[in-house]
Amino acid sequence: MCGIIGYIGNRKAQDVVLKGLGRLEYRGYDSAGIAVVEGGKINLVKRQGKLRILINELETSPLGGSLGVGHTRWATHGVPSDTNAHPHLDCSGKIAVVHNGIVENYLALRQSLTKEGHKFLSETDTETIAHLIEKFYKGDLEEAVIKALKLIKGSYAIAVIHKDEPETLIGARCDSPLIIGVGSNENFLASDVPAVLDYTKNVIYLENHEVVKLTKDSVRVKDLSGRVTHKKISTVKWDVSQAEKAGYPHFMLKEIYEQGDVVKGILDERLVKDKVVFDELKIKESDLKKIKKIAIVACGTAYHAGLTGKYMLEEYARIPCWVDTSSEFRYRNPMVDSQTLAIIVSQSGETADSLAALREAKKRGAKTLGICNVVGSSIAREADGVIYTHAGPEIAVASTKAYTAQLAIFYLLTLYLARITKATPVSKLNVLTRELTKMPIVMNELITQYRSDYNILAAYAEEFKRYYFEKHNKSYFLYLGRNINYPNALEGALKLKEISYISAEGYPAGEMKHGPIALIDENPWVVCIAVKCKTYDKMLSNIQEIKARGGIVIGVVTEGDKEIQHYNINYLIEIPRCEELFSPLLVVIPLQLLAYYVAKEFGYDIDQPRNLAKSVTVE
Ligand code: G6P
Repeated sequence: MCGIIGYIGNRKAQDVVLKGLGRLEYRGYDSAGIAVVEGGKINLVKRQGKLRILINELETSPLGGSLGVGHTRWATHGVPSDTNAHPHLDCSGKIAVVHNGIVENYLALRQSLTKEGHKFLSETDTETIAHLIEKFYKGDLEEAVIKALKLIKGSYAIAVIHKDEPETLIGARCDSPLIIGVGSNENFLASDVPAVLDYTKNVIYLENHEVVKLTKDSVRVKDLSGRVTHKKISTVKWDVSQAEKAGYPHFMLKEIYEQGDVVKGILDERLVKDKVVFDELKIKESDLKKIKKIAIVACGTAYHAGLTGKYMLEEYARIPCWVDTSSEFRYRNPMVDSQTLAIIVSQSGETADSLAALREAKKRGAKTLGICNVVGSSIAREADGVIYTHAGPEIAVASTKAYTAQLAIFYLLTLYLARITKATPVSKLNVLTRELTKMPIVMNELITQYRSDYNILAAYAEEFKRYYFEKHNKSYFLYLGRNINYPNALEGALKLKEISYISAEGYPAGEMKHGPIALIDENPWVVCIAVKCKTYDKMLSNIQEIKARGGIVIGVVTEGDKEIQHYNINYLIEIPRCEELFSPLLVVIPLQLLAYYVAKEFGYDIDQPRNLAKSVTVE
């Protein structure tokens, strides 16, 4: 939610800030703004709408200066508007602040600052920070920021500049991410690594309650009590090209097509002579042996990966598992204790509810394990152990490659734990390991089919659009799956609603008769995951029941399945035959692509769907 950037150096701040905002736009995109110190004053431009609007304006009247801050917004307090867009200024217009997070006590602060004579222009919580810094400013920006932050309750990552301190850029964080990009004769602040990758791969991850003072050739970090802390510089492995579209029309399509290679990368890294190796897992095998239950906690797509993980972990490691959405876990009284392994799954590693859930599990004595994509993210750092998915930057808001990467990690974790619990014979685990290593090739073969000139999913999407308008916009989607592909039904539905705004619901097919069957008439399109597996016959019965009521069925079936031909299925999607356990890796690919092409048919902004943000760092 919201992306911030700050620059100090010799380049034109506007260029760095706008480029960085482009790489952070996935975090929010309802307005954008920039402030620079130029000619002894702060120059500010901010506009409601996508970053492009701001860029267009700055092309005609550019800003100079080599110290600047920028922001791309996902509104929390106050509607998207020019006035509510960041940066926000103090009364004198000398201080500019960009902020990601929520100032929870902003109303009380605003009231007392107003009484003291401060004039507020926006409805935002952030503006209180600018006025507080103004109140405490006595010629030292860093000191004033520290004093202001001591009064703030809530979460923040901020970047601050003052017109009288053209050699200083201040940053600070609490529960919202902020990294420092360390350059040569230039330094950066940003919400996420891709924003600085064009200039440096050297980064420092700021911790909660730390404040950094940057000049173009120095970095000094203090805690809120003023003590200087020594920080480690990490080198990022990501390449800047990974954060670019590379000729694809959308990041989402690029990321869907990357999935075979991502899973291959994970298996190559983690499987050494058919044995699973988790280098960064700091939890000892002896501790894992004591684990009596597993709690998997996550949000959104990561939650669906967790649901799939439960099926495999229980089946092969035979450890009881349950899966919770983070927002539910953190507010109930979860049965977590020192014999529980809490697995927090999060692409960004920054989702506010997942981070809070991790802390809750830790507080209750559980061993905690993060499955994260973003290296150095909060969840990765705070969990006892971490397994990185190393899927490269995922930019499209709708998550795709992070999901299959999380599934791949769950497969490996299952094999790893099953060896420890000895719940499955080693010979069986060896067979599964060999099957798993074949999956990237099969995934890539499937992807290659979709890359060809005739893409069946694009044709189905076109057909759906025609039908939708014929039915006066009444058509929608139901996704049904069973067993290990039930979570894929949820994920398929989530993808579709996220980017095409068409109502879609995922259901375990066995629950049809307990409600959803009442919906069946000629309106919904029902995606039935009917690949060859132990519940195949049950799924066929479901399909018959839907067809008998006039429903339209898209069947996701196994290549070469002759039996399915007798079921009069309206639209077929075939996936290669594989071990049932690994079929989720294949099934999800056409589901992601179907959502992609439907959104494309309807002409929506696929990478930046309305109202959503990739990284939900506020509750
Ligand atoms: C948001 C994103 C989803 C993502 C979810 C969890 O809703 O739009 O794509 O699955 O957050 O994010 P995380 O970074 O914790 O996996």
